[in-house]
Amino acid sequence: MKEIIENVKLVENAPLEEPDRQYYFMEKAKEYVAKMSEELGRPLVAVIQTFGCQMNARDSEKLLGILEKIGYVEGTDEETADFVIYNTCTVRENANLRVYGRLGQLGAMKKKNPHKMIALCGCMMQEPEVVEKLKKSYCFVDLIFGTHNIYKFAELLTSAMQSDRTVIDIWKDTDKIVEDLPVERKYPFKSGVNIMFGCNNFCSYCIVPYVRGRERSRDPKAIIREIERLVADGVVEVMLLGQNVNSYGKNLEEPMTFAQLLQEIEKIEGLERIRFMTSHPKDLSDELIEVMSKSKKICKHLHLPVQSGSSRILKLMNRHYDKEQYLALAEKIRKAVPDISLTTDIIVGFPGETEEDFQETLDVVRKVRYDSAFTFIYSKRTGTPAAVMKDQISEDVVKDRFNRLLHEVQTISAEQCAIHEGTVQTVLVECVNEHDNHLMTGRMSNNLLVHFPGDESLIGQLVDVHLDECKGFYYMGRLENH
Ligand code: 5AD
Ligand code: SF4
Repeated sequence: MKEIIENVKLVENAPLEEPDRQYYFMEKAKEYVAKMSEELGRPLVAVIQTFGCQMNARDSEKLLGILEKIGYVEGTDEETADFVIYNTCTVRENANLRVYGRLGQLGAMKKKNPHKMIALCGCMMQEPEVVEKLKKSYCFVDLIFGTHNIYKFAELLTSAMQSDRTVIDIWKDTDKIVEDLPVERKYPFKSGVNIMFGCNNFCSYCIVPYVRGRERSRDPKAIIREIERLVADGVVEVMLLGQNVNSYGKNLEEPMTFAQLLQEIEKIEGLERIRFMTSHPKDLSDELIEVMSKSKKICKHLHLPVQSGSSRILKLMNRHYDKEQYLALAEKIRKAVPDISLTTDIIVGFPGETEEDFQETLDVVRKVRYDSAFTFIYSKRTGTPAAVMKDQISEDVVKDRFNRLLHEVQTISAEQCAIHEGTVQTVLVECVNEHDNHLMTGRMSNNLLVHFPGDESLIGQLVDVHLDECKGFYYMGRLENH
């Protein structure tokens, strides 16, 4: 059984300032990787598995940036990889269960190949019970760290490489934001950009505020600088990321609004498209709606999670808006930005949800006519207020409601999608179609996908495509003027 070192601080001649300190450890780790790779007569391979949301996807790009910097090459096969890291999610219980299942398999692989290193990070690691369970039952794991100290990855990895004990470093919270670490983007032409971290909303069902900590906005100058660099490196579309982007800038030394930030980003020459997520309805300002209506670069898409259509449930959820306010907001947005696509998140089976409450949710779906909706079965998260609420709903009832909701959502989104048939839309060409390599796949401003004949040289370009036929939630089309 491995011993455990917790809350690591390597005592070395390392610089104390960040990010210099991390670059120092990258050099150290690089020596280890080079040595191992010489012994094995091949490059070392690292695999990152990302669970959960776009924030985690962006974090994984940062992890990969560091791994590549120290000499690993990215792979996909966990069995043969020298280093495997799971970037975990804990927003719903089944995300955790999947990690434990796969971790069991990783343990068996490590038995066959003892030099394999296994690391775990992300939201799930911020839960003390999880770390306890890992210490007890998954002692083959080499490195465990959380969401607040991800910037210390190089340092932690170095100590895991130097030791045969399990290195564990979890912070409860932080106010620190470290800039200018390496990143390896998945797509050359588009990128996520964090604008804020954490969440202060404490929706009663949600574990995010407990595992991602308090809201912190990045300095606007650092955001602009990052986007300018991305654009110089070929990026044409950015996705601004935060748990609640509408409250961006409130806690900055010189406060600024999200709408103001968007206007600054819009000025960046060479940047063609701006997306953002997620918006909380309670904080969505008229100023933002106006900026969206005038902008040439902000995409015609707004993800506006409603969670429930029942004012009574929304109150229990601690969402700070009711059904009428939400509907009024959706209408105001549609009026100001007529061709906007509205998408949402909906939870069914929140404690105490009655059939009447559920009907209110269906009513909102019918009234707003979402272009698409992510539907979730309520998952009890220990430590959240909802977990101890009375009247947890039985599985049968929830499943039945979930199916009815899904049917409604899918019918409406197919109708919404079809509205655009016969029009010409500008799309960003993203990839070769997975099923037919004569087709390319592009994304419209409103986030819908269209497949059309073309070749790989188009990837990363904005082209005009005629939408020939709607296939439910995507289109078949052809290049205009080709
Ligand atoms: N159960 C089910 N869905 C949840 N979400 C957040 N917490 C839970 C939970 N405990 C959903 C919300 C949120 C999305 C990211 O995940 O709909 O908007
Ligand atoms: Fe969770 Fe609510 Fe924060 Fe979203 S706004 S991360 S649902 S607490």
